[in-house]
Amino acid sequence: MTARAQPRIVIESLDDHRNPSFRAALRLYNRIFPAKEKIDHRYFVELLQEKRLGLLFPFNVHFLVARSGGRVVGLATGSYLAVVNMGFVGYLAAAPKTKGSRIGVRLRSRLVEEMRRDARAAARPDLDAVMGEVEGDNPWLRHLVSRRGALALDIDYRQPSLRAGEPTVPLVLYLEPIAAPIRSLSTRRVRAILYAIQRRVYRLRFPLREPTFRRVLRSLENRRRVGVRRLA
Ligand SMILES: CC(C)(COP(=O)(O)OP(=O)(O)OC[C@H]1O[C@@H](n2cnc3c(N)ncnc32)[C@H](O)[C@@H]1OP(=O)(O)O)[C@@H](O)C(=O)NCCC(=O)NCCS
Repeated sequence: MTARAQPRIVIESLDDHRNPSFRAALRLYNRIFPAKEKIDHRYFVELLQEKRLGLLFPFNVHFLVARSGGRVVGLATGSYLAVVNMGFVGYLAAAPKTKGSRIGVRLRSRLVEEMRRDARAAARPDLDAVMGEVEGDNPWLRHLVSRRGALALDIDYRQPSLRAGEPTVPLVLYLEPIAAPIRSLSTRRVRAILYAIQRRVYRLRFPLREPTFRRVLRSLENRRRVGVRRLA
């Protein structure tokens, strides 16, 4: 008896929101993420329009889809933050039916490859690090810290609100070194990173108007360096 061949998984980077895979990816996004974690679809449409018009350089954004047998079975989004030469992982999702086939893992590593390419295009030798926001008790965070030398930054990090009137969300900001190991960061660099996330990922016009952002900057005032926090 011959085993039925698994359809091949193809990862594609989208640069046009009119691509049918984009609509299919949004349907998957809607199914996977709870309402409080979702951002308005227009956010992705705007980003792809800016990308297609070449307006982002030396910054960049990525919207990756994984297709299998003509169906979209995964998506990953992220931004390259040229000012700090780091990538930021936004959303990552795999269709529940594909569990165990490591589609999420493959999407994430392709996202990192895209960001390394962005770094070289911006005349850097390599990408310094990849960042992301996770719950403090997420096992994936432990995996990153113990197996990949990631730093769970010792700051009072909050994800900006995704919709007007919603509260900010306390999360851990991790930083996974790519080009070379990193043990700690200067406070100045952490400030630049936080500001770049507010401006470029969350697209806030005036981050300093946000009380929670001002609070985290104040908490950095008397520190020279930022290291790792102890995980719960
Ligand atoms: C996270 C997710 C994309 C992983 O998909 P996957 O790779 O296809 O999952 P698999 O079951 O095949 O493999 C598990 C692998 O995913 C890794 N993983 C678990 N959580 C992860 C995360 N948040 N980000 C990246 N990888 C993750 C595991 O470490 C494991 O890899 P390892 O064996 O190298 O340790 C998937 O579980 C999912 O869609 N979850 C719901 C959405 C979500 O929570 N996304 C992450 C935050 S945006």
